[in-house]
Amino acid sequence: MSDTLFIFDTTLRDGEQSPGASMNRDEKVRIARVLERMRVDIIEAGFPAASPGDFESVQAVAAAVRDSIVCGLARATENDIDRAAEAVAPAARGRIHTFIATSPIHMREKLRMSPDEVLERAVWAVRRARGYTDDVEFSPEDAGRSDTDFLCRVLEKVIDAGARTVNIPDTVGYNVPEQFGALIATLRERVPNSDKAVFSVHCHNDLGLAVANSLAAVSAGARQVECTINGLGERAGNAALEEVVMAVRTRRDQFDCDTRIDTTQIVPASRLVSNITGFPVQPNKAIVGANAFAHESGIHQDGVIKKRETYEIMRAEDVGWSANRIVLGKHSGRNAFRQRLLELGIEFDSEEDINSAFSRFKDLADKKHEIFDEDLQALVTEEGLAQGGHIHLVALGVCSQTGEIPEARIVLNENGEEREARAAGSGPVDAAFRAIEEIIESGAILELYSVNNITSGTDSQGEVTVRLERGGRIVNGHGADTDIVIASAKAYVNALNKLVAPGRREHPQQGQPI
Ligand code: KIV
Ligand code: ZN
Repeated sequence: MSDTLFIFDTTLRDGEQSPGASMNRDEKVRIARVLERMRVDIIEAGFPAASPGDFESVQAVAAAVRDSIVCGLARATENDIDRAAEAVAPAARGRIHTFIATSPIHMREKLRMSPDEVLERAVWAVRRARGYTDDVEFSPEDAGRSDTDFLCRVLEKVIDAGARTVNIPDTVGYNVPEQFGALIATLRERVPNSDKAVFSVHCHNDLGLAVANSLAAVSAGARQVECTINGLGERAGNAALEEVVMAVRTRRDQFDCDTRIDTTQIVPASRLVSNITGFPVQPNKAIVGANAFAHESGIHQDGVIKKRETYEIMRAEDVGWSANRIVLGKHSGRNAFRQRLLELGIEFDSEEDINSAFSRFKDLADKKHEIFDEDLQALVTEEGLAQGGHIHLVALGVCSQTGEIPEARIVLNENGEEREARAAGSGPVDAAFRAIEEIIESGAILELYSVNNITSGTDSQGEVTVRLERGGRIVNGHGADTDIVIASAKAYVNALNKLVAPGRREHPQQGQPI
């Protein structure tokens, strides 16, 4: 059996199914470039049939990435498969991932199809996809709650029809490790042509077992794991890429395989995804949390100073933690700026875009003398945010003193027209949000407000996430600034721009496949 464990990253597809985590085309391309640099084997770039925007994003990722396979998701329908084929066509290596549910509850209640009809449709879908590419993956959705005999029948037929990868999803995160590992072992044993396909797993984290289930499957012979950066994904998320990769790498004594991942790219990728989606990483998150390598207790600190291995099983620098490194400052020139961004995987489409980003960099360097990689990443994200949308923050002033009610004055530009409002609030941020609402009157409900410092020190930029809900639609807004009231207003405006952006997208797992 192969000793390579393929890493299939679905941050841009299943990760994007987290409420409020939607990403635009340029943001997806930025993330894809970092994943490619990390040597992810397969990047699932999206679900092209969901909307014209999703189609374009998959196409753009396919055109930008050369070293990783670029994959598009498709239900088992003609339109979905044809759209996925067209979207991944520019890729150096493209894959179509088609799926249909096989559990009794999904077949009966959602698809309203008999098992024989599902089997026939699965084979048809794989054949149709094979008409476009040799690289076809098939998933029996909700395999974790499917009948094992039926799964064996489906897998045998889809492998015969040309599926090169068969992916076993625990769609609702219901399985436990022993059971899931045993399922993979049984399928590999009982499906007569199992040696003709790579067995993959795709685990959701509803019981907090996504990584454990994935690793149990690897021990049972799975050779592809589907995962996301920071464990982002539908509901409680998917298996976290960084945890799967580091578990296999650190415990080589337990696994007879390893990944090709360049682990030093893990922390930068985690930051970028958090930055773009507005989903903060919890401090105690394994590998990428701010405390993952911090030793608080005196006994631990003493041990680590004497011999690091007393309390550390991995080296922080191996997963990309670098002590905050000053990379640029006030006197750095345009070339140094551009070069550092290139090293971070950030490329610009035009000289105009570089000039605009460089001028923002100079403004930031005036306020903050030491500029770190994290500042540069936030600056570029800001740049993207500032370009999109029809509402722009023009000016903000707040008055906040002890014993007085805080007040804010705001000027917004909405579709080219400048408007001003004032409001009082329980604090300067509340007053600023109220002033914005005086003008926009969105009626949205503020569901989440969070502030993180991007680097350390009181001159650090504050990074703010705002989550708004209106009529069932949830969006995350993001803003960064050395002034956290301004960062907050930027985040609120960014969320409003997303809220009014056109169109709902189809969800891959809802509705009828045919
Ligand atoms: O969770 C799931 O079953 C999926 C499939 C589309 C693979 O995301
Ligand atoms: Zn999923």
